[in-house]
Amino acid sequence: MQPQRHVTGGGVDGREQAVEEGVVGHAASMATPPGAPPGADPATVPQVAVPERVHAFCRRYGLRVPVLEAPMAGACPPALAAAVAGAGGMGAAGVVSDPPERIAAWAAEFRAASEGPFQLNLWVPDPPADDPGPIAAAADFLGRFGDPGDPGPAAPVFAEQCAALLAARPAVASSIMGLFEPAFVARLHDAGIAWFACATTLDDALAAQEAGADAVVAQGLEAGGHRGTFDPAAAEGTAVGLVALLPRLADHLRVPVIAAGGIADGRGVAAAIALGASAVQVGTALLRTPEAAIAPEWAASLDGLAPEATVPTRAYTGRLARAAPTPYVRAWAGPGAPHPAPYPHQRALVARWRRGGAGGVDRVNHWAGQGAALASTDPAGVIVERMWRDAREILG
Ligand SMILES: Cc1cc2nc3c(=O)[nH]c(=O)nc-3n(C[C@H](O)[C@H](O)[C@H](O)COP(=O)(O)O)c2cc1C
Repeated sequence: MQPQRHVTGGGVDGREQAVEEGVVGHAASMATPPGAPPGADPATVPQVAVPERVHAFCRRYGLRVPVLEAPMAGACPPALAAAVAGAGGMGAAGVVSDPPERIAAWAAEFRAASEGPFQLNLWVPDPPADDPGPIAAAADFLGRFGDPGDPGPAAPVFAEQCAALLAARPAVASSIMGLFEPAFVARLHDAGIAWFACATTLDDALAAQEAGADAVVAQGLEAGGHRGTFDPAAAEGTAVGLVALLPRLADHLRVPVIAAGGIADGRGVAAAIALGASAVQVGTALLRTPEAAIAPEWAASLDGLAPEATVPTRAYTGRLARAAPTPYVRAWAGPGAPHPAPYPHQRALVARWRRGGAGGVDRVNHWAGQGAALASTDPAGVIVERMWRDAREILG
């Protein structure tokens, strides 16, 4: 059998090079693959045919499998994060809506269930857009969904959330919608916390690397939930699929690239690694698991949901996000519908209508990525282990 040549990484300046690795499958006969902790189960750690950049990423973040739970505000309870970490991946929480005490409580609950690594994720706030016109038009349109309730509590203060994140000491702090301030990045690094920045274009990714990000999450247009484009107005116009985005980022960045968007099984993981990713981040594929415990109507809406049936919409928050086509989402795309108000006004309006009478706006956002039909109802740990096992088989 001929030795196989494969590339161990992307990179523009020769930092990562093609190497002779011996025959594909050679690692399968070894007791413990290179880079694995002593005594690690060879069935659950990266093999030598997997690029070195994947091993390096796993070593740095204490992972047995290069699979990260995507931070998903409203859909990542500690039990789900612990299940992913238990399978050798990284758990996550999207804490954009959480006040400091809830951030601390999430971390404590995770730690009670797992010793594995986790990331906490915050949205970088958009500059204020207070033009009253679109806000009034959106409020008027929402009137067709019933009466508004009370305005509810004020949104958490970003600076206080940042302080709570630091105090919780996750392995990783991640950002979406923009960049953390340099002073906060310095405090994260001083505390030994890595920063992963979500990017949907090369320009955003380069800005994140320049600002000190330790890894960039390449978020393809397939992704469920919010698209992290830095310029709020640019999200529709810069929608790039993961197959094009990943090599573009991998070819131009020094830092590792994490693939997100539409990855729901081992084929997706293998493809992402082949395209230059050091790890993958998975959201929608975990939403139907028992640990995610999302609302039953939302889980049902994902069952067999075709990629083309998912809809990019600003109807829930004013920021672009991919969701299942509920009647509420469809109404905002229908004739005569106004533009949703800019973030965070649309989000506040929707929250208010949710607090209104019964039969008002959908009670939960039915976020859904284009891989929804592949989402399984198996436990999260089973899904993560299967993803990596199947990916390794494909990678050889
Ligand atoms: C229910 C849900 C909530 C999400 N919330 C967040 C969030 O709070 N912060 C964030 O950075 N990304 C959020 N995302 C995006 C994910 O981090 C990730 O980019 C996406 O799930 C990857 O695509 P996939 O859903 O096809 O796996 C969310 C995604 C979903 C499905």
